[in-house]
Amino acid sequence: MKLWGGRFAAASDELMQRFGNSIGFDQRLYAADIRGSIAYAGALARAGLITAAELEQLTRGLEQVRAEFEAGTFQLLPDDEDIHTAVERRLGELVGVVAGKLHTGRSRNDQVATDVRLYLLDEIALLRRALLEVQNALIEQAAKHLELIIPGYTHLQQAQPVLFSHWLMSYFWKLQRDQERLADVERRTRVCPLGAGALAGNPFGIDRAALAEALGFERVSENSIDAVGDRDFIVEFLAWAALLQVHLSQLAEELMIWSSREFGFVELDEAYTTGSSLMPQKRNPDVLELVRGKAGRMIGHLAGLLTTLKGLPSSYNKDLQEDKEPLFDVIDTLRLELPLMAGVVRTLRVNRARVEAALDSGMLATDLADYLVRKGIPFRESHHLVGRAVRRAEELGVSLRELELSEYQAIHPAFGKDLYTVFDFRRSVEMRSVEGGTALEAVRVQIERAQSAIDQFTNWSTDQLDN
Ligand code: ARG
Repeated sequence: MKLWGGRFAAASDELMQRFGNSIGFDQRLYAADIRGSIAYAGALARAGLITAAELEQLTRGLEQVRAEFEAGTFQLLPDDEDIHTAVERRLGELVGVVAGKLHTGRSRNDQVATDVRLYLLDEIALLRRALLEVQNALIEQAAKHLELIIPGYTHLQQAQPVLFSHWLMSYFWKLQRDQERLADVERRTRVCPLGAGALAGNPFGIDRAALAEALGFERVSENSIDAVGDRDFIVEFLAWAALLQVHLSQLAEELMIWSSREFGFVELDEAYTTGSSLMPQKRNPDVLELVRGKAGRMIGHLAGLLTTLKGLPSSYNKDLQEDKEPLFDVIDTLRLELPLMAGVVRTLRVNRARVEAALDSGMLATDLADYLVRKGIPFRESHHLVGRAVRRAEELGVSLRELELSEYQAIHPAFGKDLYTVFDFRRSVEMRSVEGGTALEAVRVQIERAQSAIDQFTNWSTDQLDN
């Protein structure tokens, strides 16, 4: 018999049942569902709707259902359309008629909204840690190669020399913003919809604030109609994931370019590459390719859920059941992917010789223009003058460094013998000692700040776990 079977004379269409069931994917909510139900039973007892003995029976029954899920012995039946139905059905088998009191004043609408929030809060805590590991790996590599100079690129063309550590840290800060965004998503997920009923609110005077507190929520939802239809927190989570995935994809792309034979700046650990079934010499960066590839899927999930939501009338609509598969897919993907990316970064080997050989003195043209600026020439003019020097060097088939002083002086008398001191990559890097610049000391400060941002987070998250 179905939970809602009373008013129906005929059985459901078999295909419709299969089409409508969510048990295939929402089973994973069992622990959250049972937690929510135990807390709800407590609220019913406090409101005098069930006795202390009944509360005891329900709680023990629910714990037993949970144990069956955990042991893998829970038996699904064909009529278990979703996790809520399945748990309640089994509870009835275990404790008898009292199970029928659990749903007093509750609807699957406020129940499912509560379950997903509880589930997601646990996952967010794990994901924050996993993301932190990638950040730690970036910091470790930066500390290991603190002083190495690499070509810095804009438009994927050599631009100015920078420290490898500075480049690594550029990804740290992207991920740090992702941490901050996730903390923000977490805040809006920590809102309790339980007590909203189907859409109009609970008629039995249950204490919503106590219920929210028992479940670890920060506050209760303000409007029962909104509470059962609100999936903003899932949209925000998917948006967070899509942007994080874009960042990871960018890092993956750059590492793939740099690990190509043509660049050879870095080498990926064998653990993260695969061979070819045809070409014996191949070592393919599969992990990184998949990280790049999955960005499409993640962005798609966000667009998909937004599209599901856009035409919905108020409160609960069955369309909302479509929120779960993208959510679970994103979580499953990131739970594998973040530790993998941490591993890729941590085991990355750098080929200093290849990096150094790639440094082209053309990247110091800006420093040459800056040299003229220090001699009192306005930058726009010095830029132009150095441009002429670049052209002249090209005509003569030499580098800027090899161009003779007489050639420079023919362009402008402000060029002096000391101009050649500019052709020093280390000097160029060290000139950028401004906060956030690539000079060694500035990068050291940056890494310290990154470390303290992480330490703050670590303290914060243990506080959260203690609560
Ligand atoms: N499986 C449903 C979902 O995921 C649970 C809520 C069903 N509510 C209802 N009124 N049919 O959204």
